[in-house]
Amino acid sequence: METIILDAKIPQNITSCAETIASGGLVAIPTETVYGLGANALDEKAVTKIFRTKGREPDNPLIVHIADPSQVKSLVKKIPENFKILAENFWPGSLTLIMKNNGSIPDNVTAGLDTIAVRMPNHPAALALIRKSGCPIAAPSANLSGSPSPTKAIHVKNDLNGKIPYILDGGDCTVGLESTVLDISEKTPRILRPGGITHDKLTSILGVVEIENITTAGIDKPRSPGMKYRHYAPDAPMFAVIGAPDITAEYIKNHLDANDNSAALMFSDYAVCHPNVVTFGASTDLAAQATSLFDALRKLNFINPSQIFAQVPPPIGLGLAISNRIIKASGNNLIEC
Ligand code: TXA
Ligand code: MG
Repeated sequence: METIILDAKIPQNITSCAETIASGGLVAIPTETVYGLGANALDEKAVTKIFRTKGREPDNPLIVHIADPSQVKSLVKKIPENFKILAENFWPGSLTLIMKNNGSIPDNVTAGLDTIAVRMPNHPAALALIRKSGCPIAAPSANLSGSPSPTKAIHVKNDLNGKIPYILDGGDCTVGLESTVLDISEKTPRILRPGGITHDKLTSILGVVEIENITTAGIDKPRSPGMKYRHYAPDAPMFAVIGAPDITAEYIKNHLDANDNSAALMFSDYAVCHPNVVTFGASTDLAAQATSLFDALRKLNFINPSQIFAQVPPPIGLGLAISNRIIKASGNNLIEC
């Protein structure tokens, strides 16, 4: 099968993709966070194709994407108390809500859990596609399992060429990191995966919000099953170098000088001049770091280095999600400077 990239600005292309979804096929869809690999969430067979195509473990459940908050009623057992205020403030947007499911969704979407993850994305093409398909769309990130999430149509093509009919190209993702996953199925809301909607933003609306111990890579049964897998990872061993940016830059410079085939991910304002250095935004510009991180990790892979050293922002605000992704990419290999 040839994989065709279709421009999302052309209405006929949305129609073609909607027909593919409605008839049980897969389409890569643009969202503001990362590209998703979408299928009809109510069609068990179509959902099976997602797992096969990505090489995803069946115990890792999928997010169901909707185009209107009112669609939640048909998926959950009971609308949680906090739902309305969260949807009003953050939907459409990069917030996924975990709620008790009502059993109407196939088991392979939820990996047999009694909960369901739901999100209304903030991208006009994604919303138009969901409406035209006439069904909620189950979609994990559209990368091969383990590799960095795609933030450009070409990233999807590089991973899934020949495996899916269409990639709907809605431009580069403006957020660049996957959504915040917030569990509101129990009394105290809990962040299971940090993302674009920060802990501060959530506490300003909800009061107390707990954060799952997100940096523990080795736990067997985390509440968000996806968090236990090594993710976002370039092929080479990677080290997250923690500390003040001038000190980590010095550490990295010394290691690049000592080994020709090392590479580094650095803040643009601290980057050393070396062919194997890839930058991902200034140290003070967290939004730019988020947008360019996954593209930078893919570029590092192309260099085919023997090892990679990465600068990491402090885990504050959006920095929590960015540092979480870098530390996961490193498989928890930390160097404290
Ligand atoms: O921004 C995003 O969230 C993107 C776009 C495409 O929407 N999607 C995405 O999907 O990142 P994925 O499959 O790569 O990550 C979904 C995460 C996984 O860590 C999964 O374990 C968790 O959400 N998840 C899904 N359903 C869950 C549930 N019922 N309970 C706990 N965690 C759940
Ligand atoms: Mg993913």
